[in-house]
This record gives sequence, C-alpha cells and structure tokens, in this order.
Amino acid sequence: MSAVLRPEIHDTPARFDARNLGRLHITPLQAPLGARVSGLDVRERPSAAQVLALKAALRKHHILVFSGQTPDDSQFLDFTRHFGTIFAAPRNAPVLGSDPYGNTPEVVRVSNVDDGLLGNHELPAHADHHWTPQPSAGSLLLALEVPSLGGDTTWRNLALAYDALDDATRREIDDLQLITYNPFLRSRHPLPDGKRPLYRSPDIEALTPWVAHPLVRTHPESGLRALYLDESTEVELVGYDPVAGAALIARLREHLLQERFAYRHQWQVGDIVYWDNQITLHGRTEFDPSERRVLKRISLSGSTPF
Ligand code: SIN
Repeated sequence: MSAVLRPEIHDTPARFDARNLGRLHITPLQAPLGARVSGLDVRERPSAAQVLALKAALRKHHILVFSGQTPDDSQFLDFTRHFGTIFAAPRNAPVLGSDPYGNTPEVVRVSNVDDGLLGNHELPAHADHHWTPQPSAGSLLLALEVPSLGGDTTWRNLALAYDALDDATRREIDDLQLITYNPFLRSRHPLPDGKRPLYRSPDIEALTPWVAHPLVRTHPESGLRALYLDESTEVELVGYDPVAGAALIARLREHLLQERFAYRHQWQVGDIVYWDNQITLHGRTEFDPSERRVLKRISLSGSTPF
C-alpha cells in the first residue's frame, strides 16, 4: 500500500521579509541606464531583502551607483560575493591583471601610479573579458583617488542599442556568431606594422585560443536581447565575407556609440559602480598623467553567452 503524502506545515517554503530593506533606496538616474543606491554601507552584511532588491535593480537598470563607501579589500570581496563567485580567467586567456602564469588577482588595481595597470589613456568601450569562454557577468569598481578633470567612465546600454536597430539589420545579425580576439594576446603577438586591426582580414593569422559568442546575446536573467559587440577590439564574424563583415561591424559600432544609449560617470572618492557586463559596455576618457587615479575592480564570473 502506498503512503499518502500529506502537506505538513514545514512544506510551505519560508520567504524573506521584503520589508527588511532598512534605509536602502534605489533611485533611477535621469539617463538611458543606471540607478543610484543610498542607505547602504557595503562594509556591513546586507539583509536578504537588500541583496534581492539590488539584484532586481541591476537587472532593471544595468548599473548601480553607490557613494561614500570605504571598504577594505576583504569587505569589498565579501560584499561582492553576495552576487556570485569571483571571476577567474582560463590560464591561456590573459586578462587585465593576469600574471605570466595566467593567474588573476581577485581585486585588480586600476591605476596610473605605483605599478598601476591602465595608465592615463582613453579606454575604448568594452565588456570585461568578452574574449573568454564565460565572460564576466558583472564588475564593481571602487574609486580611491580621482583626478580633478577627466577619467570619467561611460556605460552604454546594449539592449537599447539593439532595440534601436531597424528590422532588416536585426534580422541580418540575429543568428551571427562573433569572435572577439584577446587584445592581451595581440600585445604579445604584434603585427609587423604595430597596428591593432578592428576586424581580422584573411591575411592576418588568427590569435589562439579564440571563442565565438552570439553577436546578439540574450540576458540570462531578464531575457533582454543585446548587441554584444565592443568599440574597437579585433573581431571577426564567423562564416561571413570579410569585406562585408568589416563594413557591418563598423556600422554597428558607430550605432552603439551614440550618446542616446550612454551614461557618463564623474567619479568621486568612495563611489562604487556595479555594472552588468552582459548588457553594457564601459570605457573612460583620458586624464592628465600628473594626476593620480586609483580604483579597485572586482569581477564576477559569468556563463556561456547564448
Ligand atoms: C575598466 O575597464 O575596468 C576600468 C574602467 C575605468 O578605469 O574607468
């Protein structure tokens, strides 16, 4: 005789208390993406309601801006781990901060001083670790020292950029696969003329390892479709005529760089910006090399784009 399954009181799953937000406030920016977070000190353990509110806000706004934060590295890591595990690149795919053996620090110092990694030059718009098999889902950048002028970071909304394409272009690109070649490997294998191609032509030997991802990516949580292409890394459309491919990519890049998809952030000491790499690009303006700019970045691991 089979047992009769009877619902017991403990079969009803317990839920977090949505009222337990404390002083947390999330206010959308007057911009095509982004929201400001207030009433939270990232050095303290957030409540379940706060973590879930931040996750929901990131999904909706794509970048979150916190101010007045003073975590040390360990507190910054503890806070970040509420949103996932820390990104580690495959050893054969160097990224910013990788050592010669392919190890990556959990906290990357983005600075123009004291062995800093990124100098003072302009950084073109990119998504972190795009050229790896599972690119980072998101990154957090904490400002410790900022220049008086310049060094602003601009984020771009790739879902808006995709939506703003005409139907014919969307149909043309919807099923294309794009290789984004590793720019750190290109530095190790420079071309004879020292140039960095925007699109690989057949006369250039392909950098290996490489991986192809969809040119139009579906966000793993929201389902939004996004144009997953950056400003100037060497790329190639799989199985596409090289001349037509280079022209198509140039047209899409011009499209996604329009100001109507962008939010520009002027850093203050103590700011943290947490962004979703799966649906945004970020790049920064140059600044005077005699000024100091010191930030710390932590990236979260991601999944295979689809
Ligand atoms: C980065 O690309 O992670 C650094 C951006 C910045 O320096 O503003």
